[in-house]
Amino acid sequence: MSSSVSIETKIAGAVLPSCLYNASGPLCSTEDELHALGKSAAGAILSKSATREKRQGNEEPRYVETPWGSINSMGLPNEGYEYYAAFAEQAAAAYDKPYIMSVSGLSHEDNIHMIKALSGNKNVTAIELNLSCPNVPGKPQTGYDPEQTRYILDKVFEVAEHPVGVKLPPYFDIPHFEAMAEILNAFPLSFVTCINSVGNGLVIDPDRESVVIKPKSGFGGIGGDFVKPTALANVRKFYTLLDEQIAVIGCGGVKSGMDAFEHILCGASAVQVGTQYMREGTNCFARIGRELEEIMSRKGYKDIGSFKGRLKDL
Ligand code: SIN
Repeated sequence: MSSSVSIETKIAGAVLPSCLYNASGPLCSTEDELHALGKSAAGAILSKSATREKRQGNEEPRYVETPWGSINSMGLPNEGYEYYAAFAEQAAAAYDKPYIMSVSGLSHEDNIHMIKALSGNKNVTAIELNLSCPNVPGKPQTGYDPEQTRYILDKVFEVAEHPVGVKLPPYFDIPHFEAMAEILNAFPLSFVTCINSVGNGLVIDPDRESVVIKPKSGFGGIGGDFVKPTALANVRKFYTLLDEQIAVIGCGGVKSGMDAFEHILCGASAVQVGTQYMREGTNCFARIGRELEEIMSRKGYKDIGSFKGRLKDL
């Protein structure tokens, strides 16, 4: 590691000592898991997407590893938003890094209620509003509905006191990127996180001739290696389409320093780790950070601003 290289970044006005932190998903649901993130080299602590009430989530098995990544249909198991709001005080007392709360209401009203209730909680650095969970049966992904997205953001910014960002589903068509960017640019968003899992994939076991997860007849969100090109495309497109003050946070297929480097080259200001964090635990943040620093050092980049977004066309 070279001490002359910095992987520090800034999101929502707050300094993150490392641009790498956890995706809201695996291993960020309990106080123990959140403390483990606090003690690790992760640049921020991001909580599991919270609903208004505690939820058990979907039936098991609901998370399966494959050689190229993972499929999950967790269904937002979480302790309820008050639990994560209360953890903010512990996080502020113990750790010198931002604490970001992910919020994923089962209705617009729930989102507004939670965001309003968090007002005044000075220990929450920012809110990541999850508009893209594919795993709650009967609930569509709001991020795929431009008018619903505009509606909820209108309501959120009437009540939000914290910096707010949104976690988006992956988009696959240029007009869809453009339509979403136009809506997102109309609001004082601090960041967008690209991408949530690629929703409603299907992994099967040909020996058992069956699906591998129980909920939704086996349909679930795909993460890991296979989603990296889609994640990079989403980071890149939103980096070029969004106003400068909206930071893009990359998420998808990050298991090495080079993966993180590629996300930043596409325009990411910070990079989240999901499937690999689930596999490796909190050590992944120090290891990926070291690998990223080595790459930067070799290429002569002193900080992430030196190459962020500088992807070249041919
Ligand atoms: C889940 O709990 O189902 C995963 C969260 C998400 O995909 O947003």
